[in-house]
Amino acid sequence: MTKLEIITMPDPILRKTSESVTHVSSDLLVLLDDMLETMYRASGIGLAGIQVAVPKRVLVVDVSDHEKECPSPICMINPEILYFSERKGVYEEGCLSLPETRVEIERPSEITVSYIDRDESVRELTTSGLLSTVIQHEINHLDGKLIIDYLSSLKRDIVIRRLKKMARAREDF
Ligand code: NI
Repeated sequence: MTKLEIITMPDPILRKTSESVTHVSSDLLVLLDDMLETMYRASGIGLAGIQVAVPKRVLVVDVSDHEKECPSPICMINPEILYFSERKGVYEEGCLSLPETRVEIERPSEITVSYIDRDESVRELTTSGLLSTVIQHEINHLDGKLIIDYLSSLKRDIVIRRLKKMARAREDF
């Protein structure tokens, strides 16, 4: 498995809308493995294809507590949310593409999501809590949407300016 480079803001690729997958190829399965490896090494709990510069509708998540539990990775191809609950919950979310940024976001607590799995079978998952939040966050990535879009434009501009400064500092280094 290969660790891939994670794209960070302000790279405009993060704003692209990802394309549906038409066929689960062996290359796609390798990509999913590499995305999991990349996510685990970055201590993340979710990663979308676009974050490793692949504009396909794929995501990986694992919200298990690695200290106490076995890893429980989920790979989703062409995920689609079929149901959102009325009830909402708030989490402070981070993102591997937005270093040192946390945003409190209110989202539906429970969702039902349909997706294609690695065996090319269609599956449905109804879930709540952290897993529901992470899946919604990753699906946002597939539509070019980022956590800073939930901020007021004033706050968003401040964060973008800081991220640009950090990116420049990395380049100069
Ligand atoms: Ni993210």
